Amino acid sequence: MAIEGPAAIILAAGQGKRMKSDRAKVLHEVCGRPMISYVVDAARGAGAGTIVVVVGFAADQLYEALAGEPDVLFAEQKEQLGTGHAVKVCRPLLEGYEGPVMVLVGDEPLLRPEPLADLFDRQRRERADCLLGTAEVADPTGFGRILRDSAGRFLRIVEQRDCAPEERAIREINPSCYVFQLPALWDALDRIGTGNAQGEYYLTDAPEQLMRQGGKVRAQNVLAADDVLGVNTRQHLAQAEAIMQARIQDRWMTEGVSIIDPRNTHIDGRAVIGRDTVIRPFSVVSGDVTIGERCKIGPFAHLRAGTRLADDVEIGAFVDVNRSTIDSGTIARHLAYLGDATVGRDVNVGGGAITANFDGARKHPTMIGDGARLGANSVLVAPVEIGAGAVVAAGAVVPRGKVAPGATVAGVPARPMKPPAGE
Ligand code: UD1
Ligand code: CA
Repeated sequence: MAIEGPAAIILAAGQGKRMKSDRAKVLHEVCGRPMISYVVDAARGAGAGTIVVVVGFAADQLYEALAGEPDVLFAEQKEQLGTGHAVKVCRPLLEGYEGPVMVLVGDEPLLRPEPLADLFDRQRRERADCLLGTAEVADPTGFGRILRDSAGRFLRIVEQRDCAPEERAIREINPSCYVFQLPALWDALDRIGTGNAQGEYYLTDAPEQLMRQGGKVRAQNVLAADDVLGVNTRQHLAQAEAIMQARIQDRWMTEGVSIIDPRNTHIDGRAVIGRDTVIRPFSVVSGDVTIGERCKIGPFAHLRAGTRLADDVEIGAFVDVNRSTIDSGTIARHLAYLGDATVGRDVNVGGGAITANFDGARKHPTMIGDGARLGANSVLVAPVEIGAGAVVAAGAVVPRGKVAPGATVAGVPARPMKPPAGE
């Protein structure tokens, strides 16, 4: 198979022992998406034409999570013998391809395409056998450190475990963002050993090895600390979540959305929000939710996957909306649940009104016509259709079926009320 360059390799075979989890580390989610998805997007956005993901621990979980990514190939690393070995197992897939390959790790969800595209450019301009992007961080704990000579020339990478005490103080770190030229890398990987604290084949030894073979290696401090946060623990996961969440909110505020209390708001990376919408505190938008313009959300609202709000919709306190489409002007101001519902325009959803969409085995739809009014504490037992302009009285339980347009229903089970005498 012909490889479309430039190529990228993403290392994701490790278990991530420090996470203490049955799930592969790179599948833990940041703002609703698995970490590895961000890295795949960043590599693709940087220009990679082919992306090889190295899988091992819980490989099936990764195949499933990345199914449908057309440009992703998988290489299996049966035993996790180290990051150098992980790159080596990609060789059969990339055989015959000569050109740049970017190597990234799957546990850095904050990587962005632009700085990585810049690494590809730099490698090409320098004609380097290895262009290593580095970053200066406040706390280098856990990262490999960049060693330079007195003239500032790159010498090698030293893992934290193998650091001499004075080397630990170095704050220029290896974020594991490399561009190597193929085939020179293969030869270098064949020559690295396991003489280190973990007895593993370290990819971090490859740049030094390339220099020994007469190759050109450049380490350039061009990456931002926030972009290269490596997630090794649940604490790191929470840090990544906070930074990603701030980026998502920043984007929507730039687009004209008001977020009253950013720290107490959570918005999924897949959500789309229209201008002049206001999000009040303690609201959570999870999944691929679309919110129109001038909507009022919260406080304490929960909008879930598949929900679409048109313009001028109000979803207030303790209202949960799941897989529902709501047309403009509709208001659900307090204590309501709308699940699998299609709600028309200018509907009023009273406090405590809910769709009973789950019968214990299956979910069922609810249709609510334009201008309908649902009374306080009413229950709509799905599948059910409420006609346009219909009124459901407070406390009514509407059984499966239909309420005619313009009708008023009341009681348990709800029945049409007779129109007042004279009408
Ligand atoms: C690695 C680097 C370190 C760097 C840091 C940046 C090495 C030896 N060290 O350390 O210099 O500062 O990343 O985040 O490379 N993996 C495999 N197969 C293996 C081992 C690891 O696929 O045999 C994958 C893991 O799933 C993970 C990535 O490689 O996604 C990095 O492994 P990890 O154990 O997190 O390396 P660090 O200790 O963070
Ligand atoms: Ca790591």
